[in-house]
Amino acid sequence: MDDTQISGDLTHVLFTKEEVAERMTALAAEIDRDYADKDLLLVGVLNGAVMVMADLSRALKIHCRMDWMAVSSYGSGTQSSGVVRILKDLSTDITGVDVLVVEDIIDTGLTLSYLISNLRSRSPASIKIMTAFRKPEAARNAVDVAYVGFDIPNEFVVGYGLDYDGHYRNLTSVGTLAKHVYS
Ligand code: PRP
Repeated sequence: MDDTQISGDLTHVLFTKEEVAERMTALAAEIDRDYADKDLLLVGVLNGAVMVMADLSRALKIHCRMDWMAVSSYGSGTQSSGVVRILKDLSTDITGVDVLVVEDIIDTGLTLSYLISNLRSRSPASIKIMTAFRKPEAARNAVDVAYVGFDIPNEFVVGYGLDYDGHYRNLTSVGTLAKHVYS
């Protein structure tokens, strides 16, 4: 789906499909260099990271394995509580493995803070984070992110895995959702 199919739902397009693809390819080149001699495991955080994982992994020139986690924030409404429940754990033993956690977005950083400390306790060789998008203004928890696609404003953004009520994940561009859609 592209933005012409949801005309009126976006106030503006932040990044086109081409801009996103170009950035993912550039990040893949950095990861190729950094993990040239490593045993790389990409850990995607469901559901939003599906698009990033698909594009990033295929842009890599090095070997990698992939695994997935699904987590859910306790708490009501739109605010993350910081308490995270694991809905689906890894199938892989990450002891001694170089882990790169792949996210679609870091908003408050609470999900990743929990996830990283949980994964660290399993003794990986290394653990780093890659995210397609990051909202710096919303950061409540300092999370050390090795690879960032784009810093974005603190607005309701959809597309490229980011959803509103389960929709818009398959939008190829990334844009700001118009208020009339969610109010
Ligand atoms: C999103 C995103 C991160 C989390 C970031 O997931 O994929 O996991 O929120 O928010 P935080 O930095 O404030 O903790 P979400 O819970 O929306 O689930 P989804 O990936 O299925 O859309």
